[in-house]
Amino acid sequence: MVTAYDYPGGKVADRAGVDMILVGDSVANVVLGYETTNEVTLEDMIHHTAAVARSRPKALLVGDMPWMSFHVNPDETLRNAARLVREGGAEAVKLEGGAERTEMIRKIRSAEIPVMGHIGLTPQSVHSMGGYKVMGRSIEDARRLISDARALDEAGVFALVLEGVPAVLAQVITRQVSMPTIGIGAGSHTDGQVLVMHDLLGYNFGRYPKFVRRYAALADTAIAALGGWVEDVRTGAFPNEGESYHMIEEADFQLLAEQVRSVNGGAAPARTRQTSGAHLS
Ligand code: KIV
Repeated sequence: MVTAYDYPGGKVADRAGVDMILVGDSVANVVLGYETTNEVTLEDMIHHTAAVARSRPKALLVGDMPWMSFHVNPDETLRNAARLVREGGAEAVKLEGGAERTEMIRKIRSAEIPVMGHIGLTPQSVHSMGGYKVMGRSIEDARRLISDARALDEAGVFALVLEGVPAVLAQVITRQVSMPTIGIGAGSHTDGQVLVMHDLLGYNFGRYPKFVRRYAALADTAIAALGGWVEDVRTGAFPNEGESYHMIEEADFQLLAEQVRSVNGGAAPARTRQTSGAHLS
């Protein structure tokens, strides 16, 4: 699974052959420039999910439920999940949290919307976690996460994201639950992996966590490409003849001749050649 946030993102993810595309609330950080994911709204998520949906991916499209869209009560949670599906085109939704979310998950599933879970380092809990920290390092925390994973399994999530947990804990959870686990910063023993697209493409201007492997340096490539264009515009090397439109037949000559006549008080210009783009002496 990889994240995508717009139409080209959906196209490249799908053509690369991923099984699932997540329109993550990480759109907040990597695309919208917010400090935390808690700043994106349901409207933002619908907008971005719909853009990815228009790329018509074969991969399963999962829409992330933003902070406070699944916390108030089950009815409101279901209505919000349904908006991600109906208006955003999501085929499943994801929400963060453990056993405390099972009532909401059951409610969403009652409307035949598949739900993906997400435990461990849950970025929407940044303030209560006291920052972005690896979770489940102590035996007590590890037991709590195992019990959360089991509760989510019983509530019927179809897959579970394990973020920022020790590899051995991810391995234990993966063995104990029936649904596939998808790791991010969770070692190599989960059933699948997920990364933020902008991280793996090197197109992120924030901090890269240690679990990110960069497969490209798109920010550097883009800066070099745009810099080349800026230089060409300033020197006049862009655009060239082939990058310009031309008038039909001799209309360009006539147009320029009229202009010269009006400036010269009626004297016709000498005709030099008939190529694309007329040249008048
Ligand atoms: O929002 C997101 O990108 C995510 C992934 C990191 C799993 O939740």
